[in-house]
Amino acid sequence: MEEPVASVTVCEDGPLLVRGQFTLLTQDGEVVDPGRATVALCRCGRSTIKPFCDGTHKVIGFQAPSASTGDRPAAGA
Ligand code: FES
Repeated sequence: MEEPVASVTVCEDGPLLVRGQFTLLTQDGEVVDPGRATVALCRCGRSTIKPFCDGTHKVIGFQAPSASTGDRPAAGA
């Protein structure tokens, strides 16, 4: 079986764009139909259709960089 190949793009001041072959799951492991090949996942927390982005981030002026702003804690920390 071929492993899924996907990319996740962190959009400045916006969502996470997921492209490629992926499976979207709930925390309980239920499959969520993304409805399209590329999905935008809400990063601002204010979408009314979570986990998908509905564009609210623009209305609320959500700001977050595309790249990390600091070092991540060590694994297991
Ligand atoms: S990132 Fe778009 S609504 Fe939250």
